[in-house]
Amino acid sequence: MSRQLRGPAGKARTAAEEQPEVPARRVLVPGLLRPRPGCAALRPFASGAEFKYIITEKKGKAHNVGLIQLNRPKALNALCTDLVTELNEALQAFDDDPAVGAIVLTGGEKVFAAGADIKEMQSLTFQDCYSTRFLSFWDYLSQVKKPVIAAVNGYALGGGCELAMMCDIIYAGEKAQFAQPEILLGTIPGMGGTQRLTRAVGKSLAMEMVLTGDRISAQDAKQAGLVSKIFPVETLLEEAIQCAEKIASNSKLIAVMAKEAVNAAFEMALTEGTKLEKKLFYSTFATEDRKEGMAAFVEKRKASFKDQ
Ligand code: COA
Repeated sequence: MSRQLRGPAGKARTAAEEQPEVPARRVLVPGLLRPRPGCAALRPFASGAEFKYIITEKKGKAHNVGLIQLNRPKALNALCTDLVTELNEALQAFDDDPAVGAIVLTGGEKVFAAGADIKEMQSLTFQDCYSTRFLSFWDYLSQVKKPVIAAVNGYALGGGCELAMMCDIIYAGEKAQFAQPEILLGTIPGMGGTQRLTRAVGKSLAMEMVLTGDRISAQDAKQAGLVSKIFPVETLLEEAIQCAEKIASNSKLIAVMAKEAVNAAFEMALTEGTKLEKKLFYSTFATEDRKEGMAAFVEKRKASFKDQ
């Protein structure tokens, strides 16, 4: 069984910006060192080594929600290579952990993430970017099988906005702000911003955001379809965890299929997408959980899913 990833015992850490940039606790999880395609080889951490830029914890009554908090407050959670490497490790660990049914990704109360680390990027040349395939493993989040909820308080700018958009659901705190301000730095989004934002909010608003760098509020983001719900700053994380718990209480196996089917809508034409949906739908009939779900309905009892 996978070992648990934890932050400080029993406490959700919600105010990253108040914390000093000190290493958070990390516990090594089986599967963590499996290399991913396009990803630099991971550092061989010893068991008990610590994450520096993120805090991980299992949440929910059944400890079935994996919580990842970006924790680089001094740089407003700017995404440097080491932070992204740690994030990818934690995502992979929770994705591989059979006890986890959903993942929540959050930042602090004032900032989700202020984008890619501009200071790290400043001296890069075209040759550096091209030859190292810069940013090519930064979208590992979009390959995670299990549902991921972004709980966004404060700034989600540039790579921060792109990270949130790689999640399956975005919940926003009422003071959240979203933007793709790369144009102000003489560059453009490089982690899917031009693509995912356009699919989420439509061409006109996406174009306006990408061409001006202007920020939009949580309310505007919800109206445009980028965000599904808005909550007060202080309750946002708990609401996201509750949603994740609800998802995790269903069959984890079927949830992965449902996620795959919805995501196909972004990749495929309608005919192909509905064909894939049908195949996945038929596949559910090969599972114990489909039998259990329907039997429980007929027998007027709560279903007990075994993820089989
Ligand atoms: N990369 C690297 N460092 C960043 C950063 C980024 N994307 N965003 C913020 N920081 C650092 C600042 O350099 C500063 O560090 P310092 O104290 O060593 O000078 C620290 O975080 C605090 O930022 P600061 O700008 O002083 O805070 P603020 O409250 O005045 O402004 C923002 C907040 C988010 C509006 C502003 O930091 C900002 O515009 N950041 C860049 C956003 C961006 O362009 N993102 C896309 C990157 S591709």
